[in-house]
Amino acid sequence: MKIDILTLFPEMFAPLSASILGRAQKENKIQINVVNIRDYSEDKHKKCDDYPFGGGAGMVMTPQPIGSAIAVLDPEHKARRIYLSPKGETLRQQKVFSLLEYDHIVLLCGHYEGVDQRVIDLFIDEEISIGDYVLTGGELPAMVLVDCLARYVDGVINTSSLVQESFSENALEYPQYTRPVEYGGLAVPEVLRSGNHAEIDKWRRQQSEKLTREKRPDLLDGQK
Ligand SMILES: C[S@@+](CC[C@H](N)C(=O)[O-])C[C@H]1O[C@@H](n2cnc3c(N)ncnc32)[C@H](O)[C@@H]1O
Repeated sequence: MKIDILTLFPEMFAPLSASILGRAQKENKIQINVVNIRDYSEDKHKKCDDYPFGGGAGMVMTPQPIGSAIAVLDPEHKARRIYLSPKGETLRQQKVFSLLEYDHIVLLCGHYEGVDQRVIDLFIDEEISIGDYVLTGGELPAMVLVDCLARYVDGVINTSSLVQESFSENALEYPQYTRPVEYGGLAVPEVLRSGNHAEIDKWRRQQSEKLTREKRPDLLDGQK
């Protein structure tokens, strides 16, 4: 999978070089291309924002640099083009699964008051929000989406980690324990140390259901 990220602040993407995502890129399992929108500005001062028509606070990102960057990165409109926006559909696991069908994704990060509406009307396939709150820019939301997607790209993580995890089956994951057996007066549940895999599976299913009922009953209704 190839992901182009359009931003005015490429330096914000340093975390993508660390840990699992960094390794996945080195091993060429996923290609992440961070593109500076400013490089495409035809303004002599490389300006990429201007005052909003109609007045109001803040600046709006101008259409020309974004349109020119997208024309170069995805000339035939084969990629899925996504604008990270608080006005978009809230990101859920099912959306992540549906985006995995695309080999090429272009992510547009807004900043300031966002982008000129004509960018969305002309170039964008869908808008995605990472939650009902407003951030200073689309850079963190883009990293959230890239991280979610990369986990499911072949070879990025061990596939056994992807089964029975939270949201994979309309439920939250069961509690996890590791060594030591006793810590702070609390012991690891006996069943997990029994070696009886049928009993362990049963316990985990029960715990998963209990946790989901307590914390996210909406998931049991299938409202993912
Ligand atoms: C300060 S916000 C603009 C908010 C916009 N004026 C509004 O009220 O809807 C700047 C940029 O951050 C990004 N952003 C902010 N909150 C977001 C969220 N919850 N999900 C996705 N992107 C978000 C978007 O790219 C947006 O263009």
